[in-house]
Amino acid sequence: MDYDHSFFSEKSIRVEPPSISWLMRLALDRPELISLAAGFTDNATLPLDSVKEIADRILSDPKRGQAALQYGTTLGSAELRRATADRLHRLDKDQAVSSNPDPSKTAHTHALNPDQILITQGSQQALYLTLEAITDPGDIMLVEDPTYFVFLGLLQGFGIQTHGIATDTSGIQPWKLEEKLLALEKSGELKRLKALYLVSYAQNPSGRSTTYERKKEALEILKRFESSAGHPIALIEDAAYRELEFDQEQSAPSLLTEPNDRERVFYLGTYTKPFATGMRVGFGHFPALVLDKIFNLKGLNDFGAAKFTQSIVSEAIASGIYDTHTQLLRQRYFEKASAMDEAMKEHAPENLSWEFPSGGLYIWAKLGGGATTGPESELFKRCLEEGILYIPGVYAYCSDLDRTKPDVEMRLSYGAADIPVLQSGIKRLCEAISGLESRSEH
Ligand SMILES: Cc1ncc(COP(=O)(O)O)c(C=O)c1O
Repeated sequence: MDYDHSFFSEKSIRVEPPSISWLMRLALDRPELISLAAGFTDNATLPLDSVKEIADRILSDPKRGQAALQYGTTLGSAELRRATADRLHRLDKDQAVSSNPDPSKTAHTHALNPDQILITQGSQQALYLTLEAITDPGDIMLVEDPTYFVFLGLLQGFGIQTHGIATDTSGIQPWKLEEKLLALEKSGELKRLKALYLVSYAQNPSGRSTTYERKKEALEILKRFESSAGHPIALIEDAAYRELEFDQEQSAPSLLTEPNDRERVFYLGTYTKPFATGMRVGFGHFPALVLDKIFNLKGLNDFGAAKFTQSIVSEAIASGIYDTHTQLLRQRYFEKASAMDEAMKEHAPENLSWEFPSGGLYIWAKLGGGATTGPESELFKRCLEEGILYIPGVYAYCSDLDRTKPDVEMRLSYGAADIPVLQSGIKRLCEAISGLESRSEH
């Protein structure tokens, strides 16, 4: 007798292998491939010496060392939650000042309460626990078109229906959000709508950041539909790439800026991308009643994130090492983004368009002229022959019966590969695209 459907949970049967697992396998099987697909950070930038120094410092003091190697609390280290609340408050204050020179407009930036912050195993766990706390199969979630494809896998696994809301260079289009909410109200489905998910800084995959005005407008629109939904509609602000925006002075404040909004905003952040991905330390700031539920679920799951890595991140923040490192990373990724952009300017055929990203790890490129980029496309196959891997854009669009998924984009990562490799990868990618054109001319 074998394990079959009668044995497994409905959820485990519903969950499909990640959409790009075959791509990752391909990259492992063929190490000669140039991967513009991986979402990995740059190995050369990982803070080896700093982490060694910090770990030494912690472990040489028996009291601190023992505390770091002991179980922690479910909520996470009090020191790290306080540091996180202070950091977020400072970022919001600074960014409110720089994006709005009128000081009276920023007076309302009140401190954040560390008790509303839960430390998680990367922000990915915060996303998972959020869905576990607020959704049941058949519920509805709104996401950006395009969005973080791993989150789409999570939604699929939870059995959640999705609708994509159009975006432009300023982020989500609020009038499209309103249109969708009106349609859901009319069809009687609004009661099943739980949240809108926005990746608001240097978005994965588009590299665009959402302006404060757009986020705020989206939030106000959601609030207007609450009474019709019969419950709050949350706005999940995923700020995973906030500290990797290249120009921090131009960065928008988060939706935690106004205390009243904190009752509807689930803000998720991370210390992985801006410091060391392997630390797996992330966090969420939740409305108090939501935090209670997530806290209970986290208790069942692991009764607290790893204490040792939390201690390292706390010390990195307290000592200033963290700030120095994020500055270095921003500079490094800016150089890499610029190198990729330059290579694209040099080699790209006319039908390839893209924008310089506001930060993060990706350039999002669009192919014009009718050719597609999906895993079955001529281009994807040619790229494989040429030894190039990219993430087909189609994976970043949710299943939405109201539209077909666009299949003309590519996510090109400059995160992991070195600059000469990126340059060679882009040259070959562009040649593959030009090859398509000349083939279709014949
Ligand atoms: C948009 C977005 N959110 C969240 C995550 C999760 O990151 P982590 O769990 O390392 O914090 C990622 C990782 O790639 C991401 O791209």
